[in-house]
Amino acid sequence: MPVSKADTVVVPGGYSAEVLYAWGDPVGNGPEFKNDASNTYADQERQSGMHHDGIHYFPMPLGSASSTRGLLVMNHEYTDDGLLHVGGMEPWTPEKVAKSQAAHGVSVVEVTLAGDHWQVDRSSALGRRITARTPMRISGPATGHALMRTGFDPDGRTVLGTINNCAMGATPWGTYLTCEENFNNYFVNAAGDATGIADPAERKAAMAAQKRYGIGDKSVYRWTEHDERFDAAKNPNEVNRFGWIVEIDPFDPNSQPVKHTALGRFKHEGAFVTLAADNRVVVYSGDDERNEYVYKFVSSGRYDPANRPANLKLLEQGTLYAARFNPDGSGEWLPLVHGQGGLDPSSGFAGQAEVLVNARAAADVVRPTKMDRPEWIAMHPQSRDMYVTLTNNSSRGVDKGPALDPANPRPNNVFGHIMRWKESGADAAATRFSWDIFVLCGDPENKDEAKRGNIKGDIFGSPDGLWFDARGVLWIQTDVSTSTLLKGDYATMGNNQMLAANPETREVRRFLTGPNGCELTGVTSTPDGRSMFVNIQHPGEPASERNDPKNPTAVSSWPDGAGRPRSATVAIRRRDGGPIGS
Ligand code: FEO
Ligand code: CA
Ligand code: CA
Repeated sequence: MPVSKADTVVVPGGYSAEVLYAWGDPVGNGPEFKNDASNTYADQERQSGMHHDGIHYFPMPLGSASSTRGLLVMNHEYTDDGLLHVGGMEPWTPEKVAKSQAAHGVSVVEVTLAGDHWQVDRSSALGRRITARTPMRISGPATGHALMRTGFDPDGRTVLGTINNCAMGATPWGTYLTCEENFNNYFVNAAGDATGIADPAERKAAMAAQKRYGIGDKSVYRWTEHDERFDAAKNPNEVNRFGWIVEIDPFDPNSQPVKHTALGRFKHEGAFVTLAADNRVVVYSGDDERNEYVYKFVSSGRYDPANRPANLKLLEQGTLYAARFNPDGSGEWLPLVHGQGGLDPSSGFAGQAEVLVNARAAADVVRPTKMDRPEWIAMHPQSRDMYVTLTNNSSRGVDKGPALDPANPRPNNVFGHIMRWKESGADAAATRFSWDIFVLCGDPENKDEAKRGNIKGDIFGSPDGLWFDARGVLWIQTDVSTSTLLKGDYATMGNNQMLAANPETREVRRFLTGPNGCELTGVTSTPDGRSMFVNIQHPGEPASERNDPKNPTAVSSWPDGAGRPRSATVAIRRRDGGPIGS
């Protein structure tokens, strides 16, 4: 299939792609979407959020392998407040902040296959929205710690909401893990000081931590203007309550989501879950920022298929590691455990809670490899090889950026690459591994040799979403930012796309191209492999990442063909009902 600049989803002949669940679609008895953006914040709380991201299909009932009825659980990563409100952000009101918060979070919807068409079952008892205001429990070593206490929550045990939910994971016991990525963009510290903290030494430490996580003096989302919870000067500890992995039980609509501090606080891209040889649970996660690390968590307890209540506690205790990719192709997992490897009061860590809340700084002490923006992680279902997308890194080998190394071998890495590693003994709990580069993305026609890459097949760059189907086909989704899309080095690559790769031959074939201004992110399928669900995020996004409310269709009017563009889940089927991608 060729690259595309068409304002539509293109799939190969013989396939259908139907919009199933778009921003503003009602959940349960929620109100209908109004395309003039006049739905209220109360409406938005019972409608699909914006900017669909990671997604997972859970067969229903729980434990079955149904490919005709299931729960789709998905993230709503961020909002375009130019599209979300009548008049965009002008004027900026408390009601608009509340609507923006309601358009974030997670959706749980029940879906059924009727004939050849998927539909949302609005009568489901399980459909629900989780937003930036939903109460959640804090679990693990940092629970109740001084760093987690705020004026709103003096006990440090309950936090309101989850934000910037990027990719995800699914556990063998049927829960969904949603990952908080760029939480810093919601906070603002205009004072340049943590004025909410009395003790000068603690204040200094809080400011160092805010700097490490990118809290600035301007807020992208401007919530602070009407919700002072996000004022990082007055409420410096509120910052510490975001950047976690959150577990949601989609099969219990009354369950409270849980933020698991044992898995560390950073800009979690996703959370790939597998089991170690001894049934401990292993969760892999990339920290998506230039020159950050790849992590994994190994639980203390073991998965027991017969004891779901015990499984629901498995992510509360375990060991967090960061990865070092040695130049010789070997690698090691470095534990972030208080009292080991220099993680003690001399390096600023009084206990394990400090290590986890400031996981980036703790990792710095044990010296993992600084990577070219680690995004999704996936495991080959047969070989158990692990794959990670490194989307791009404009600072690699440039100015003050880190030097080239064999795992991040290209200067100003504009196209990104995909790496893979083999855990020792194919055991996810191993502390040693061997690695190689699967593909260097790029364009063989690029005038700069360093940007040509070594793709066998269709060209792409900025790989982000990564997922294996049950047969071992590797699906790759791209996120070329809208400031770069169709320009310069990316002029030849068309709109963002999804491709399928053969891990043995390394051949890559384009499968889907998205509408204008979108990114492709989030893919899952039914157990039979005959239905695939793909998320189209931010169609119509301009280079500024915020639409002009006077002209919301300037870039795209997908999927409705008229009216403002809407992120949406698309259901893909082969017209003859066969397995996708075969
Ligand atoms: Fe939310 Fe790194 O993509
Ligand atoms: Ca992503
Ligand atoms: Ca992205």
